[in-house]
Amino acid sequence: MKVCVITGGGSGMGLEAARAMPNDRIFLLSGRTQQKLGRAAEQLKAEGRQAFTMTCDTSDRRQVHELARYAASLGEVTNVINAAGLSPSMAAPEKLLRVNALGTVYVNREFAKVMKRGVIVDISSNSAYQLPKLMIPKRAFALAEKHEQEFLDRLLRMCVLIKDSYKSTGLAYALSKNFVVWYAKKSAFELGSRGIRVCSLSPGLVATDMGELEKGEGAAMLRHTAEKRMGTPEELGFAIAMAADERNGYLAGVDILVDGGSVSGSGS
Ligand SMILES: NC(=O)c1ccc[n+]([C@@H]2O[C@H](COP(=O)([O-])OP(=O)(O)OC[C@H]3O[C@@H](n4cnc5c(N)ncnc54)[C@H](OP(=O)(O)O)[C@@H]3O)[C@@H](O)[C@H]2O)c1
Repeated sequence: MKVCVITGGGSGMGLEAARAMPNDRIFLLSGRTQQKLGRAAEQLKAEGRQAFTMTCDTSDRRQVHELARYAASLGEVTNVINAAGLSPSMAAPEKLLRVNALGTVYVNREFAKVMKRGVIVDISSNSAYQLPKLMIPKRAFALAEKHEQEFLDRLLRMCVLIKDSYKSTGLAYALSKNFVVWYAKKSAFELGSRGIRVCSLSPGLVATDMGELEKGEGAAMLRHTAEKRMGTPEELGFAIAMAADERNGYLAGVDILVDGGSVSGSGS
């Protein structure tokens, strides 16, 4: 039986992606809060899907390794949606980088070990597009797999230069999500020959728990969208499920921007 794993699957876009995927598979939802996962799994089961849960903090490589092993014990891991993430209001810069950036390294690498073929979709953000090209530290990005501490130190040095604390975490978030796009592309070219397709998807401001928390600061972004509104979790769930569906087999090595036109409208 096919297994679809969703990190951050207990809520928001991750859960909606599960609801939009074909139901001929087992869903394994993970996140840090068992209660949330339990509720989400009950919802999927009530809709006729098979759902399992496992707690996993994606910033801990050992836990991601265990998650991948458990997923493989349930069946053939064919779809991985890496939606786990924290936003600027939720954590300090180091934590944001550990969860959003290093978490993506752990998920892609640990799941690649147990997958024979399939799809990995890493969820980024349209914040990734807000960094001027000159500020994107690609050399530091290249350190993430083998020299984690140096990777973190280099990115954190950029964040401490900013005195306003929200802007500093905002920069850490944008850097972490720019890294997700970069790393998903790198993974696509490394894993493609094994039949594992990888891409990233960047939402704009979406009305999930996280989006509601950030909407004060994100209001400027909404003015640039075509319809002057936030996205809904259902819309994003559908877009993510489309990217993660194995029938969409030629979609690899790119980022899909699903932000209501916000980046395009702001001219960035
Ligand atoms: N909503 C937006 O406006 C927006 C915009 C652009 C990008 N995004 C990205 O979209 C993704 C999904 O977010 P969402 O909007 O659907 O918000 P959400 O409902 O808050 O979902 C995020 C999920 O990630 C889990 N999570 C957080 N830290 C984790 C960790 N260290 N390990 C494992 N799971 C973790 C959370 O559960 P626990 O707390 O229980 O672990 C939560 O279920 C995130 O990557 C986010 O950065 C969101």
